[in-house]
Amino acid sequence: MKVSAVQFHPILFDKDKNLEKIVNFIKESKEDLIVFPELATTGYFFLKKDELGRFAEPFEGDTYNLIQKLSTQLNKIIVYGFAEVKNDKFYNSAAIVFPDKKYSKVYRKTHLFYKEKFVFSPGDTGFFTIYYPDFDLKLGTMICYDWRFPEAARTLALNGADLIVSPSNLVTRIWHHAMPARALDNHVYLVVANRVGSEERRDEILLFNGMSVIFDYNGEVLNLATPSEETIISAEINPKESRDKAINAFNDIFSDRNTNYYFLS
Ligand code: ACM
Repeated sequence: MKVSAVQFHPILFDKDKNLEKIVNFIKESKEDLIVFPELATTGYFFLKKDELGRFAEPFEGDTYNLIQKLSTQLNKIIVYGFAEVKNDKFYNSAAIVFPDKKYSKVYRKTHLFYKEKFVFSPGDTGFFTIYYPDFDLKLGTMICYDWRFPEAARTLALNGADLIVSPSNLVTRIWHHAMPARALDNHVYLVVANRVGSEERRDEILLFNGMSVIFDYNGEVLNLATPSEETIISAEINPKESRDKAINAFNDIFSDRNTNYYFLS
């Protein structure tokens, strides 16, 4: 199957414009799976809950209805970051939308970064995978700063992920050291969809670094975007290949794990 990451510049508080762009990218794309950045529908740098109150929506709100329809029509899996409201709480979430809507689900970002802590609640979904039979794919999702915690990708991989997708708004470059390791030490494909552009609030500027990337299960780069352009990158993957965790005749990186010794002393 063909997977892709859309790297673009969401405009803060301009949901209509962002959605128009997202829809155009979906219609133009030729891949079976498309990953958009974190908070792709709203922009990133929220500072107050009442700002979020104007733009957050339930998982199965208007945006989801629009994207679900496209997913079904075009037979594509679509993952996009959005600001979610549920029971008066706000979450930094990713909608995971499958052509057959009974598989569609929401992931809520577990590890909140920087001033996200002022406005969002920590996610309560945990790290789950979804098996989609039409593409014979087991898909896991994490969001951006979750990369800092090897436990996130590990849990997804132990839950059987063939592919981990990571909608992101990354403001450093150090993740380029860690992300390939997450692919390698779990023997999974990994797609990072990062945004570009900057956002300024109260004299503080956040610059987003692009360089969206698709790794194979050895951490090799299959495709890489530039730091600042809007683009789609894509790669062919074979989800089945990620499932064999053997690295030679005598070693299997999952069955060799010795959990007897993984504890605090
Ligand atoms: C991040 O979690 N947006 C860096």
